[in-house]
Amino acid sequence: MITGQHADLEMTAEEFAMIRDFIHERSGIFFAENKMYLVKNRLQKRMEQLDIKTVRDYFYHVKYDASQREFNVLMDLVTTNETSFYRNEPQLLSFSEEALPMLLKEKAAAGQKSLRIWSAGCSSGEEPYTLAMMIREKTAMMAGWKVEIFASDISEEILQKARRGEYQGLTLRNVNPALLGKYFTKQGELYRVSPEIKALVKFSQLNLNDQRKVSLMNNMDVIFCRNVMIYFSDEVKKHLVRGFFNNLRPGGYLYIGHSETLHGVSKAFKLVYFKNALVYQKEAAESGASRPVAGTTRTSVGAGASAGGGASRAMDLLSQVKQPATAGK
Ligand SMILES: C[S@@+](CC[C@H](N)C(=O)[O-])C[C@H]1O[C@@H](n2cnc3c(N)ncnc32)[C@H](O)[C@@H]1O
Repeated sequence: MITGQHADLEMTAEEFAMIRDFIHERSGIFFAENKMYLVKNRLQKRMEQLDIKTVRDYFYHVKYDASQREFNVLMDLVTTNETSFYRNEPQLLSFSEEALPMLLKEKAAAGQKSLRIWSAGCSSGEEPYTLAMMIREKTAMMAGWKVEIFASDISEEILQKARRGEYQGLTLRNVNPALLGKYFTKQGELYRVSPEIKALVKFSQLNLNDQRKVSLMNNMDVIFCRNVMIYFSDEVKKHLVRGFFNNLRPGGYLYIGHSETLHGVSKAFKLVYFKNALVYQKEAAESGASRPVAGTTRTSVGAGASAGGGASRAMDLLSQVKQPATAGK
């Protein structure tokens, strides 16, 4: 028996494997053996609240909770939500200064003046709000465009923070003071995201390991999934990236964390060398580079498919399942 640093909670290797495999199966998040104490420490307080004495009992409690409430609590406990506004600015500049103008030109030529962006694993909202501010800053270029930013996360608790849109401290360190004044209202130490920025972002709970729900997020122009897949097993990454490929319209871009790679995960995307960053692109069909993708139903991508209604419907459906949180939790 392996005893944790807290004398009152013990977790055997078998119990660790049980809960670890359950978390992996449901969320894609994988904890290696050396993360045993981290998992134990994160469970301890919750088990005390529930007056559950053993990890095995907690495992059954969460596994057989038909309401999913305990699973949501578990996800709040085991996810790492580190993020900040304007995180990795070169990547964001490659979006606003390079990918975006190209996308707009291409879409305008096709008579489609709408842009659909998905921040997958958005944590407390800094990433989608940053994208919204960057787009708002392109006033002339964006005139007449309909912009939708879908933002999703598995953790309901972190989404409640995202919806509140109130921030302070280090997370704001990269926001230019002029933009702080323009897109936030200040109350003491607290900065509140302005309604015009909030209006661009739709938050919803979505488990990226739920392939059916991921498949509903179709016809995206850009997907940001930065610093999320690092927590997943290779197998889950492969499924998810295949899903992202299908979610993107031809010509669309996939941003992953700057230290992440699709090497060994997918060969479906083209690597684009922008001035500011390397970005993955689903090539437009007419470029003639439509490589077959293992296990991917390319026909389901459909350049003209659903005119983008799918993801809106998906987000609506998802928010029916999970009621949008009210501020203040
Ligand atoms: C480190 S944050 C990254 C936030 C943001 N993308 C960034 O780069 O700053 C990782 C986020 O992924 C979310 N996450 C982890 N597993 C997930 C899953 N299976 N489905 C959806 N979101 C997940 C976590 O809850 C967390 O908020």
